[in-house]
Amino acid sequence: MSAKLREHTRLTVPQSKVSVPIYVGNDIYAEVKNIIALDTFTKVGVLMDKNVAYHWGESLHKVFGKKAVYVIIPAGEEHKDMATAEKIFSSLIEHGFDRKSLLINVGGGMVCDIGGFVASTYMRGIAFVNIPTTLLSQTDAAIGGKTGIDFGGLKNMVGTFTHPLAVICDTLMLTTLPEREFRSGFAEVIKHALIADKKLFQALYQSSFGDMDEEKLAEILSRSCDIKCTIVSKDAEEQGLRKVLNFGHTIGHAIEMLSQDTNNPLLHGEAISIGMIAEARLSLLAGLITKEDFSNVEKIIAKAGLPSQIGKSYRKGIYEKILGDKKNEGKKIKWVLLNGIGKAVIDEEHPDKLINKAIDYIIA
Ligand SMILES: NC(=O)c1ccc[n+]([C@@H]2O[C@H](COP(=O)([O-])OP(=O)(O)OC[C@H]3O[C@@H](n4cnc5c(N)ncnc54)[C@H](O)[C@@H]3O)[C@@H](O)[C@H]2O)c1
Ligand SMILES: [Zn+2]
Repeated sequence: MSAKLREHTRLTVPQSKVSVPIYVGNDIYAEVKNIIALDTFTKVGVLMDKNVAYHWGESLHKVFGKKAVYVIIPAGEEHKDMATAEKIFSSLIEHGFDRKSLLINVGGGMVCDIGGFVASTYMRGIAFVNIPTTLLSQTDAAIGGKTGIDFGGLKNMVGTFTHPLAVICDTLMLTTLPEREFRSGFAEVIKHALIADKKLFQALYQSSFGDMDEEKLAEILSRSCDIKCTIVSKDAEEQGLRKVLNFGHTIGHAIEMLSQDTNNPLLHGEAISIGMIAEARLSLLAGLITKEDFSNVEKIIAKAGLPSQIGKSYRKGIYEKILGDKKNEGKKIKWVLLNGIGKAVIDEEHPDKLINKAIDYIIA
């Protein structure tokens, strides 16, 4: 194994004998050939979206050569659907992929999710590898075994729990990301720090998000991957603990969905940042964190250049999306809240009055 390629951490789920190596480094994507014995597979497919193919297609051709099958899908969440999955299935069939073939997903969360879904269902499941190319996918989507597509207007409605053979997180690939996408990815890193790691929080607090050097980025990325692995390994199928990863996502998802119908849709990380402010506010109102903790949450999100508020037109929609449905079923929302910086609690129930106050806080 080359000097620059070091397995950083491993996601293990003892009950299901899952053990996925995660590699983090700079300029390591080509090492996939040393990690996976490509020759032992009957076919190798490389799945990318159009943007990834534009920036990395040529370099990937150099790694995988003419024998590999390159499948290119349109970019964007709106294509993480059954129609695109069908196109990938058809390509695999057309090129004679069988149960001993391999799919390599190179892309953001969209490509890793749909590629993982197709691989885990094609001929009842073939092996796949994730080479995530966005900060969000490197720290979150590519690790943990959740695969899926959106269906009937609902996010991740159809999918499986299936792990890749390996995950390769290359910071070099992040250099071609648009600035806004790059910043947005920090939301999940901040989330990991807030729910599980005060030291990571402090490291982030002291860094300059705008021009982080490659070494610092790899360090933060590695720590963030560790947190995701630790949490998932204790609760692979989201029975309990894994829910902490949803911090900021109850209100964040509502904002993300509402923003899709506007002229200025928010990126996932941007919506989650606002969601984290609201849910940290609820943690403060519930007496779980101090004013100082709350102010630190606000400061780190501002430092990362991520938004913390949303326009008035969202007020009613957020309420309806998160409270309306549950109320009709006579149920209460179970929140993931902070219990200090670096600690989270799940299944918190709170009165509508507090929830409304927390929502009011993020309305500009
Ligand atoms: N499976 C999970 O556990 C999990 C967790 C979190 C999010 N997700 C999913 O992840 C998806 C969001 O992921 P995302 O934010 O990575 O979005 P994405 O995959 O849509 O990528 C964002 C944009 O960046 C482009 N891009 C990707 N890599 C690039 C690169 N290196 N250079 C230039 N452009 C590049 C893409 O083409 C796209 O336009 C959502 O579908 C979400 O549901 C899944
Ligand atoms: Zn998220």
